[in-house]
Order: sequence, then C-alpha cells, then structure tokens
Amino acid sequence: MSADDGSDKYPEESGRRRFVKGVVGGATLVSVGGAGVAGVNSATSSSGAGGGTTQAWAIENTAGPAPRGMPQIPLEIDSEGFVKGIWPDVETVTQGGRQVQIAEMDLGGTTYSSEWFQYCGVEGYQGARPGYESENYFRTGSNPAYDWQSSSKEQGDRFHVDDFDDYAEWGNGIGTAGIGKPATGVWRSEGADNVMPIQLIRSERVERAAQDDEWLQASTAEGFIAWLNKCTHFCCVPGYKQAADAARFGGEDGVYCQCHQSVYDPFSVVQTLFIARPRPD
Ligand code: FES
Repeated sequence: MSADDGSDKYPEESGRRRFVKGVVGGATLVSVGGAGVAGVNSATSSSGAGGGTTQAWAIENTAGPAPRGMPQIPLEIDSEGFVKGIWPDVETVTQGGRQVQIAEMDLGGTTYSSEWFQYCGVEGYQGARPGYESENYFRTGSNPAYDWQSSSKEQGDRFHVDDFDDYAEWGNGIGTAGIGKPATGVWRSEGADNVMPIQLIRSERVERAAQDDEWLQASTAEGFIAWLNKCTHFCCVPGYKQAADAARFGGEDGVYCQCHQSVYDPFSVVQTLFIARPRPD
C-alpha cells in the first residue's frame, strides 16, 4: 500500500462534512478512521523527523486522479482584523533515540499537527519546520490569481477582513457568483527558499457550516477557510475559479488542478488518512 494508490482516501462511509447538505457527527469519523490507521501502520515505517500515519482535515477531492484532499490550515483573525494561520504548539520529544521538534496541538476535537503539510516536498521547506519563526499571517504572493488582489495588494501584504467585504456577491465570470471570495497567498515563507502556497476563501457557506461543527468552529473564522494549495496528485498548484476550462471537468465552482484535472470542493471538509513524509532535518 502506498500513499498514492488511492487506498488512503477518506473512509468511504463517513468522514465527510458536506457544507451544502449538512454536517455528519464526529463519532463515526473516529471509528472508521481508526481501522484505516491500523492498515496503514502495518505497511509503513518512516525515518527522519516526524512523518508517518497522519489523519488530517482536508478539502475534499471530488474528481480526477488526486488520492485525497488538500490539508486545511486552521486560521484565526487577530484583534486588528488580519487573517493568520494557526501553527501548532512546538515541543521537543525523543523519537528513535534522538531529540526532535514537533508541532502538535489539540484543536476542535482533533490532533492538529504540522505533519498535515508533509507531502510533495513541503516537508523539506523551512516553513514546515516546527520552530521556523513566522507570525503566521497569510500574505499576498508574487503573482496573485485574481484581479481584485492584483489591483489592491502588494507582494507581502496581509489579508484583512475588510478586503472581503463583498464576499456574498463576488464573482469573476467563472462558475457561479456569490459562493465566496478567494485570494491566493503564501504562508510561513518570509525569507524562505520555498514558499508554501495557500488559498483562502470567505464564504457564507463556511459561516453556516461552522455554527454547529466543533472542528470548523475552531479552524475557520468569520466565514474564512484556508488550505495548503498543493495538489496531492503530483504537487501542482490548483486554483479556485482561476481556469475557464475547469467547467469541462465540473470544476468551475471548485478548486481545479490544470495538470491532470483533479477537482477539490472547498466547501466539503473531510478527514483524510495518509503517510506524512518525514522532514529531512
Ligand atoms: S491533478 Fe495531477 S498534479 Fe494536480
């Protein structure tokens, strides 16, 4: 069994939280996921720091060859209204007889870990190191994907709640308008050699879904949701409403990867089980 053969997809019968259709309870998630963990563990070993079997919340992969969803980045809004990702608490533990740093915390009934982001080479990025110094704000990158962002944001700028005031109506001619307003950016990448690409959306769907969901209450805020924007197939950077040809593959209202036509639904958060790659440090 490998991380790429599809076997580590979300459990078939549960693990889904479809914002549109309502929310499933958490109890089933744990039991179904638990069986999967045992199966994956028996086929795996890892060396290096961190890594191994990891259960993460992710935006669901709904079409195409990607083996699973892209990991959500829990977020918060600071006292001035800027949006920032939550990085887990850093601690030093003994692993395989040596001292290593891990970043892990309990959040919204889940163990949130930096291992969620250890795939596609990101495990070697400076920003993925538990102790990497960052204020954790999402920031505009070098080449924003949306006109609103290109015209109002400079590289390195943070995102403010007010930037998304028109989130209930925003549209760009791709798919349906009024679903949510997106931005592209980077995270934990100040002064780093590699940038961690993220997408951020503010949506009424997220606000509604978070009302009665422990995980979404803890990991989203004021309708904002974010994820690490690295396709779990072959690591391209997908886009929400960025490609006109997404409609040919049912992705006009989703997050579409142009490389091999995978589609993700940012309004369906599911649990995924995969083998996080160890950090090289
Ligand atoms: S679908 Fe292949 S890299 Fe995204």
